[in-house]
Amino acid sequence: MAVLDVLTYPDPRLKEIAAPVERFDEALRAFVADLDETMRDGPGAVGIAAPQVGRLERIVIVDCSGRKNTPNHGHMVLVNPEISEWDGYAVGREGCLSVPDYTGNVIRAERITLEAKDENGAAQSFELEGFEARAVQHEVDHLDGMLFLDRLVSRRSDLFRRKKYK
Ligand code: NI
Repeated sequence: MAVLDVLTYPDPRLKEIAAPVERFDEALRAFVADLDETMRDGPGAVGIAAPQVGRLERIVIVDCSGRKNTPNHGHMVLVNPEISEWDGYAVGREGCLSVPDYTGNVIRAERITLEAKDENGAAQSFELEGFEARAVQHEVDHLDGMLFLDRLVSRRSDLFRRKKYK
């Protein structure tokens, strides 16, 4: 396994639309393991998407189990994810491994229904809410070349410089 290099804004590869995964093979599972290790290497990261390491395929990982008071489904490998239902909306603060110096306030659906494959090609379906639903929406955006920066209502009032990590 390996920690992969994370692309950062404004790398143009972060604006690309990723292609669906068609082969669920050992190479895919090895990549997912590397992507997972890369996410765990990021400070406080709860998700990562394959385009963030330059692989333009529809693969994301979300794991909110390390956050306090956050209902979650544990470690989710989501291949070819599709959000099929959205309900409600809320504003919340987001960060991104590809935008290391800033956080921002973004409007997201409060509850979503999600269909995806796992790394073996098995179909999965999730009902997600709150912070975990937000994390999935953020990661799925990466597959369509969208960053949270693209969803700020106002860069002037909704973008915040991060305090440096110690
Ligand atoms: Ni991100």
